[in-house]
Amino acid sequence: MIHYSLRDNKSKNWMSPKQRTKNSILILINRRSAMIKLPMLCLLYTSFFWMETMKDEFVRIVQLSDIHLFENPEDSLLGVKTQESFAALLEMLKKEEFSFIILSGDLSQDGSDASYLRIAKMLKPFQVPIYCIPGNHDNTKIMARVYPVENISNHRHIVLKNWHIILLNSQIPGSVEGYLDRSQLHYLEHCLQTYPEHHAIIVFHHHPIPVGSAWLDKLGLTNANEFWQLTENYPMITAVLFGHVHMAVEGKVKNIPYYSTPAGCIQFKPHHDAFSLDHIPQGFRIIELYSNGKLKTEVKRLPKYIGHFDQGAKGY
Ligand SMILES: [Fe+2]
Repeated sequence: MIHYSLRDNKSKNWMSPKQRTKNSILILINRRSAMIKLPMLCLLYTSFFWMETMKDEFVRIVQLSDIHLFENPEDSLLGVKTQESFAALLEMLKKEEFSFIILSGDLSQDGSDASYLRIAKMLKPFQVPIYCIPGNHDNTKIMARVYPVENISNHRHIVLKNWHIILLNSQIPGSVEGYLDRSQLHYLEHCLQTYPEHHAIIVFHHHPIPVGSAWLDKLGLTNANEFWQLTENYPMITAVLFGHVHMAVEGKVKNIPYYSTPAGCIQFKPHHDAFSLDHIPQGFRIIELYSNGKLKTEVKRLPKYIGHFDQGAKGY
C-alpha cells in the first residue's frame, strides 16, 4: 500500500488569490471615488469567494495499456512494431506532468523476462512510481519474478489523501477472456471496507461491459454481473478503469463511470462484429483526481498512427 499527498497546481511564486483580492480592495478604498468603485468591489468579492471554492488540488495520473512488447524489440504484432509505437507514446508523455503511471495489462505479448525488463528501462526516466496488473497475454509468474524493478512496483493498492486505487488481476491463465476470482473480490472488498470514506477507483484488464463488437464482447470479464452487484454496496466507488479492448470507451453502469484506454500498439475498430483494426493513432489516458471527489479524464493520442498494420488480419 502506497500513500501520496495531493498537490496544489498554483505556482508558489504567485500571490495567492486571497492576497491579490485584499491588495486590490485596499487600492480601491484609498481612492476618492470609492462610491463609483462599489460595483467593482462587489465583483472582486464575488471572484474571491469563487476562487476559494474552486481550490483545485488534484493528483494527475496516466493510464497506459496493452503495450504488447516482445522479447525481440524488432518483432511486430500484426505488422506494428510494438517497441516503436510504445517509444512514440513515451516521447509524447514527456510533455505531461503526473504523479504516477498505471499499466493496465498486456505489458508483454510473449511473457518474456526481456520484455518486462525493457518496459521498466523505458519508463525509468520518468522518475515516478509505476503500478501494473496482468492482462491475458502476460505471464504472471514471470512478472512476479521480475517486478519490482526500477520504478515498477508490485503494489496493488494506492492510497491518496481521500482517494484510493485498487488494482485487480482479472486474468484466467491460458484464456483470452477474464474473471475476478474469490481472492480478487475479497481483496477488493477488504480495501473498500478499510477506507470507507475514500473515493475508490478500481482497475483491472478485462472489460466489464459489452463494447458493441461481437467478437470482443465474448472475451470480456465473464463474471461482470457479480462485480457490478458487489459495487452496489460501496457508494464511494467513483470509476472503473480497464484495458483489453484496444480502444477508448466511456460509459456508466449503475451510475459508476467506466473508462478504457487505447492500446500502445494496434487499435481495434469500434462497433465491428468481426475482428477489425483501426487507423486511429495510439494513445493513453490522463486522469485527474480532485480533493472534492471530482474526476476528470481525457484520452491523448499520437499525431499519427505508428506503423502499418496487416490489412488482412483476422485475429491476434
Ligand atoms: Fe491487448
